[in-house]
Amino acid sequence: MIVLGIETSCDETAAAVVTGEREIRSNLVLSQLAEHRPYGGIVPEIAARSHLDHLDGLVARAMDDAGAGFDDLDGVAATAGPGLIGGVFVGVMTAKAIALARGLPFLAVNHLEGHALSVRLTEDLAFPYLLLLISGGHCQLLAVEEVGRYRRLGGTIDDAVGEAFDKSAKLLGLPYPGGPAVERAAEMGDPARFDLPRPLIGRDTLDFSFSGLKTAVRHKARELGLPAPGADPQAANDLAAGFQAAVGDVLADRCRRALARFQEDYDRAGPLVVAGGVAANSFLRGRLADVAEAGGARLLAPPQALCTDNAAMIAWAGIERLARGLTDPLDFAPRPRWPLEELVGRAA
Ligand code: KG4
Ligand code: ZN
Repeated sequence: MIVLGIETSCDETAAAVVTGEREIRSNLVLSQLAEHRPYGGIVPEIAARSHLDHLDGLVARAMDDAGAGFDDLDGVAATAGPGLIGGVFVGVMTAKAIALARGLPFLAVNHLEGHALSVRLTEDLAFPYLLLLISGGHCQLLAVEEVGRYRRLGGTIDDAVGEAFDKSAKLLGLPYPGGPAVERAAEMGDPARFDLPRPLIGRDTLDFSFSGLKTAVRHKARELGLPAPGADPQAANDLAAGFQAAVGDVLADRCRRALARFQEDYDRAGPLVVAGGVAANSFLRGRLADVAEAGGARLLAPPQALCTDNAAMIAWAGIERLARGLTDPLDFAPRPRWPLEELVGRAA
C-alpha cells in the first residue's frame, strides 16, 4: 500500500509518500516562518496563499523523490481539520483533485489523529496506549483505543503548552517559534533562580492550566526589564530555564496520574506516548521518561522530524484508515474545529 499525504493546516506546506510497510519514501516540509516573522505570529491569509503557491510543486517533488507516479498510489490523504481553514481548503482540494483525476480513494485526516498515530509509523506498537499530545494548539491526555477511537482523559483549561512556550519566548525577547528558542536559552540558564508557579500540581485532575505560569513569566520579565536585558544578560536564560522546569513538573505530575488511571482502566502499565511539536523538546522528554520508568511503563516518542507538523504522519494516518476501509467521499467538508472524540462513528 502506498499513500500520498498532504499537510497545510498551519504554517508548514508538507507532502510525503509513505508505504504500508512503514517506509517513508519522501517527506518534504516547506516552512513559511520567514513570511510570517515580520508580523510576530501566523497570518492566516498569508498562510493560505503561500500553501496555494507552493503545494503543487511540493507534491510533484515528493512523488519524484519517492520514485512514484500517481498511478502507483493506493490513496490520497490530506489534513481536513482542525486548523486554519484557508490552508486546509488548499490541501483538501488538491488531494480531492488528484483522487478524482486518478480514481483513487480520498482520505480526510484529522490533524490530531495524524499526531496520535505517528508513533505507529516508527514503532510496531499495539493499541491501547496513553497519549500526551502537546502542540501549539493542543494539550491533551488521551487513551488511544483504536484507529478513530480516542478517549479524552484530560486537557488544558486555558493555553496549550506550545502556546505557553511561544508567548513566554516573546516576553523574553526570543524569536518565534518559541519552543526551540526557549529550549536553547534554558540550556544556559539556572532553573532555580526564579520561583514560578506549577498550576494544578498535586490536584486530583488530569487537566492542565498554563495561563498562571505565563502571567508569572510576564511579571518577572517586566521586573527584569526584559525583553531588553540591560544589566543582566543572564536573566532571559534563567527565566527560560525556570519556565521550562515548571512545565516539566506539571507534565510529569499529570502523566504520573494518567498512567495510574490508564492502569486502572485498561489493566496495563502504559506505554506512554508523547507526540506533537512540544514533544521535540529533549528536556521534557527526559522528565517524561523518568515518570514512565517509575510507573513501570515505556516512553515512546516519534523522532523529532515527525513530532512537528509533517505530511508523513498524515499519509500514515491515511494508510491506517485505508487498511480499515475508512475512506471519505469527495464532498467531505473541511472542519476548522474538529475534536478527536468526534471521530467516533468514523472509527474502525
Ligand atoms: O505540532 P506543531 O508543529 O503544530 C501544531 O499542530 O500546533 O507544534 C508547534 C508547537 C509550537 O508552539 C512550538 O513552539 C512547539 O511546538 N515546539 C516546541 C519545541 N519545538 C517546537 N516546544 C518546546 N520545545 C521545543 N523544542
Ligand atoms: Zn500539529
